[in-house]
Amino acid sequence: MRITQARQWLRSARRIAVLTGAGISAESGIPTFRGPGGLWRSFRPEDLATPEAFASDPVLVWEWYDWRRGLIAKAEPNAGHLALVELEERAPAFDLITQNVDGLHRRAGSKNVICLHGDIWTLRCTVCSRARESFQVPLDPRPPRCTCGGLERPGVVWFGESLPSAAWLAAEEAARNCDSFLVVGTSAVVMPAGGLARIAKQAGAKVIEVNAGETQLSPMADAALRGPAGTILPELLALP
Ligand code: OAD
Repeated sequence: MRITQARQWLRSARRIAVLTGAGISAESGIPTFRGPGGLWRSFRPEDLATPEAFASDPVLVWEWYDWRRGLIAKAEPNAGHLALVELEERAPAFDLITQNVDGLHRRAGSKNVICLHGDIWTLRCTVCSRARESFQVPLDPRPPRCTCGGLERPGVVWFGESLPSAAWLAAEEAARNCDSFLVVGTSAVVMPAGGLARIAKQAGAKVIEVNAGETQLSPMADAALRGPAGTILPELLALP
């Protein structure tokens, strides 16, 4: 019943916005952050995902991101990523906002992807901010120097840093102006991304949550669909 209703909301929406988190890539073999087996269960974010951590031990941080790049390089997009490609093709207007840095949405074929937390396949200079793509796996053992002499760092957003402003503005605009807001595989505890569903709801959108478990968004969702994204999203789109 709830899935039928949610399917109907997506079918009739003039504009759809989607927010994804680590849960959509879990079935591709990429660990989430907070659930069982989540990265923040075994590692401390303050040692690995802050500008201070990089300043005090750049090689440790570099190696951790290199390890994650290795995991992601072996992963393939799953049925959940592919369902969102299909949804983009069907929708009159569509924005895919992701907190993920793994690049799997683009690899699956999604076109309009807003990366709120950066991209693990980008390196950025700590001094001049020049960014470049790098798919090298494994990376050199130490962070390289930019042509300006500054150390390069992973092109992701760390705790305590602001989101890229163009990405955030685009995400907020999409949330405010969509008819259906689909939230997939995120605990929604990291702000400001975690607040987008409320922005959408306050602006009148139907909020549909797809998650393996209950989250703090579940009570406000118009439909909370429980289960793995790789199963629920194809069902939601009535894919064969
Ligand atoms: P979390 O690890 O906090 O949450 C993952 C969510 O995915 C949980 O709610 C799980 O229940 C759900 N989940 C797990 N497997 C799933 C599956 N197969 N199908 C559907 N749902 C599933 O990850 P995020 O919410 O993405 O930030 O975390 C947000 C941010 O915190 C990340 O972007 C990262 C992290 O610190 C930065 O790196 C800046």
